[in-house]
Amino acid sequence: MRNLLHDVAERSARYLESMDERRVGPAPEAVAGLARLDEPLPDGPSDPGQVLDLLDRVVTPATVAFAGPRFFGFVAGGSLPAALAANWLAGAWDQNSVYWSVTPAPSMLEYVALRWMVELFGLPPSCAAAFVTGATVANFTALAAARHAVLARAGWNVEADGLYGAPPITVVVGAEVHPSVSKSLGMLGLGRNRVVTVPADAQGRMRPDALPRLAGPTLICTQVGNVNTGASDAVAEVCARARPAGAWVHVDGAFGLWAKAAPARAPLVRGIEEADSWATDAHKWLNVPFDSGLAFVRDGEALRAAMSVTAEYLPPSGERRNPGEYTPELSRRARGAEVWAALKQLGRRGLAELVEGNCRLAKRFADRLSAAGYEILNDVVLNQVLVSFGPPATTNRVIAELQRDGTCWCGGTVWQGKTAMRISVSSWATTEHDVDRSVEVMVRLARAAGVS
Ligand SMILES: Cc1ncc(COP(=O)(O)O)c(C=O)c1O
Repeated sequence: MRNLLHDVAERSARYLESMDERRVGPAPEAVAGLARLDEPLPDGPSDPGQVLDLLDRVVTPATVAFAGPRFFGFVAGGSLPAALAANWLAGAWDQNSVYWSVTPAPSMLEYVALRWMVELFGLPPSCAAAFVTGATVANFTALAAARHAVLARAGWNVEADGLYGAPPITVVVGAEVHPSVSKSLGMLGLGRNRVVTVPADAQGRMRPDALPRLAGPTLICTQVGNVNTGASDAVAEVCARARPAGAWVHVDGAFGLWAKAAPARAPLVRGIEEADSWATDAHKWLNVPFDSGLAFVRDGEALRAAMSVTAEYLPPSGERRNPGEYTPELSRRARGAEVWAALKQLGRRGLAELVEGNCRLAKRFADRLSAAGYEILNDVVLNQVLVSFGPPATTNRVIAELQRDGTCWCGGTVWQGKTAMRISVSSWATTEHDVDRSVEVMVRLARAAGVS
């Protein structure tokens, strides 16, 4: 085991040290090489060292450099050194992080990290949280708590009796709702389409003046950090409308919630603390390894009611927080270790600098591309940039050529009818030099695409 772990450490270090120079997207030959893995189930055992060697030789070259400084395709972050190290150590621990009485170590890490994040985001100190796999499951988890609470107030126990014959819930979303919220609503039996959709403005923000009249069990899904523009709904105004009607306000802040940690950006997400539940990712702006998301719920009992299970063979609730009483999963890895380690490495100031620095780099992208004559389609207020290189076919050609070139990686989108390339800056490793190097290639390819 010791030799194997030394070997994997050496290979991982070599991989990470190659980030600056390796292609961001894998070469087609490396992807084709993955076919080597497609063999019949082996009859007998293999030497672990050889298993690792095969993995490294065949799979490593076909990976995408999410861990490097020039992956701008999604808000994906990288892995901070302490977070990656914690991930390795937690892998060695192999803890099932469910009950304090069984695995106190990962339970304590979650407890402390939760307390720190509640403080960073300015959420109610008593709120409960679930450490889950990502913002999709965080949205699902928080909305399950919301469903519980609004129906309980109407005298209905949804966990016991399901939705058959339950009082109807009005679900309000913005026109730019993220599909993960719609999916969560579907998984909860509330329907992806059975929603009241509030129109959005040019940046994708829900228009609070267009909210419907609110009455009866109601759930309003807001968003901070639009996946295209980075814009945030006016959560304070939505909450002011929701409160007198007793409506539950949920905030999907997969990456936008972290704006709260950077004093200069915090005003963009003003009022989030007035909501009832929040979903975010740690694998995006906190830069921990995949997969790591967080759901926070003001009414912790609603979350526990939606998620906890009991059985004779399982430990009962105790005085200490049991992580697994708040999550859809029962068995789960110690993902709190990475969240704790990232927060411990950065501290309040380091996190603020990470978020603020990424926002500055996004602005640098926008300024340079704009100066080169290309249209920026969004107000660059956070870490997102939408750029058009001209007609849709030209923009799509630039994106395809950029991915082929390998210097950096960006994807495409269509923003309010316009085809655009989407740039997300969210890695701790990205520097001004990475932005300039990427812009240079984008402009060269755009000029070539524009004339061909
Ligand atoms: C606003 C928003 N919500 C939810 C999600 C889903 O996050 P995940 O892929 O971590 O489940 C994303 C992903 O980009 C997002 O931007």
